[in-house]
Parts: sequence; structure tokens; C-alpha cells
Amino acid sequence: MSGSESRAAKVPTGIAGLDEMLGGGFPAGHVVLVTGLPGTGKTCLALQYLLDGAARGEKGVFLSLEEDVPQLLDTARQFRWPVDSAIERGTLRIVRLDPKDARQSLHRIQGELGRELATLGAKRIALDSVSLLNMLSDDEPNRRATLFALAAACRDSGATTVLTAEADPLHPEVSRDGLSEYVADGVLVLGYSRGPDGHRVGLSLRVLKMRRTAHARTVQPYAIGPTGLSVDAKAVDLGSY
Ligand SMILES: Nc1ncnc2c1ncn2[C@@H]1O[C@H](COP(=O)(O)OP(=O)(O)OP(=O)(O)O)[C@@H](O)[C@H]1O
Ligand SMILES: [Mg+2]
Repeated sequence: MSGSESRAAKVPTGIAGLDEMLGGGFPAGHVVLVTGLPGTGKTCLALQYLLDGAARGEKGVFLSLEEDVPQLLDTARQFRWPVDSAIERGTLRIVRLDPKDARQSLHRIQGELGRELATLGAKRIALDSVSLLNMLSDDEPNRRATLFALAAACRDSGATTVLTAEADPLHPEVSRDGLSEYVADGVLVLGYSRGPDGHRVGLSLRVLKMRRTAHARTVQPYAIGPTGLSVDAKAVDLGSY
């Protein structure tokens, strides 16, 4: 890690252990893709990240293409995250983008989203998930254009962004679309670790890429517990890669 890189502003994720793997958090302004198989905690991670910001007085916007607002509120409440007060204070906003209204959602993302995000003054953005967004476009050039427009809108707003994506079931280290990894500045892979008999034994996280910063490359176990995600970052060595 060079001196200038180590001084780059970091945005803490709010997830114990993950910040250690990242040398403090996500580099400010990054668009970070979080990919994983169903149930690996992508939605929880995205919410936890925004609530960490809310606790610091930073505004966050959660754009949901998957779950409805009441479901997301229930997820946050079961972890006892202060989601209701964050919404009341205006440090968290949850926006439901309806995939049934594909045209409007795409139009918003390609056109107005940048302006909307800048107006909101959000420091943290989460979009859950780009996989659903990709299904709204009927061919690859359109998917690519939408993804680039989305990433550009997020970067232009000045926020630091988490995009979630479904992993390819046959190749769980990459997203279903195989495109988002290239558009994003950073990629976290959430997966299932397997025991010697091949059975799934737990959850493990890996930082696949994180532009302009040093990061752990080891696979670290993590858990989803009563207060959310936590990564076991024991033995993380930022100097060894
Ligand atoms: N209170 C809790 N305690 C322990 N584990 C929990 C708790 N709440 C949720 N989980 C775990 O988190 C998982 C759901 O996490 P989440 O919805 O974030 O996953 P996801 O990756 O977004 O899944 P999908 O791809 O289906 O959207 C559950 O399947 C469960 O294993
Ligand atoms: Mg989810």
C-alpha cells in the first residue's frame, strides 16, 4: 500500500471484521458489488451498511427492486437496528422501484436517478438487486448501458454505493449477468463454505477486487447473528498480498 492510497478516505461498512479486511472500509465514492447465492445476507449487508451511516448522521437511500418496504423494515427491526428513527430523522430513505413497471424504473435509472440522488444528498446508496434490474432489459447492450448509467449516477452523486447481485449457481464466484463485476469498483463475494464431505458448513466472504486500495484476499468466515452480519477477521494480514 502506498502512502497516498493508505490515506484515501474510507467509508466504514458497519460490519465488524469487514472493515479490517478493507483497511478501514469502502474507498469513498466507490460502487461496490455484493454478490452471493440466495440467503447469504446480501440484503442484510446492504441495510446494515446504510444504518451504520445513519448512526453517523449520514443520509442513505435504499433502492429496492426485490423486497417491499414493510419486509425490509421487519428485517432491520429483528436485528434491533434503529430503522424507524432513521426514517423519521431523514437519515434513511427506502424507495421501492416496482419491477412490474419496468419502463419507469429503467427510465428513472437511466435519466433522473443522478439528479434525484444528488438532491437527496445521500452519502450512502444501496440498490437491491442489479440482477432484477438486468432482467428488465431485453438484450446485453441495453443491460450494459443501464448498468453503466446506474454506476455513473451513483458516482456522480458523490455517494458510496452497494449494489447487490445474485451469484451464478454454477459459478458462485461471479454474478448471474457476469457484467456487474466490470462496472463496479469493488466486488465482495458472499458464499457457502464446504466441509471435507462437500456439505455446506457455514458462510464465508471474500474481497474479489477493490480498486485503488490494498485489501485482504483471504476467505474469511462470517455469521448472520442477532445483531446482523459479522466477519471473523482473525488472521487478516493486509501486508501479505
Ligand atoms: N435474526 C437472524 N439470525 C440469524 N440469521 C438470520 C437472521 N435473520 C436472517 N438470517 C439469515 O439471513 C438470511 C437472509 O439474508 P438476506 O435476505 O440478506 O439474504 P440475501 O442474500 O439477500 O438472499 P436473497 O438472494 O434470497 O435475496 C436468512 O436465510 C438467514 O439465514
Ligand atoms: Mg436479498
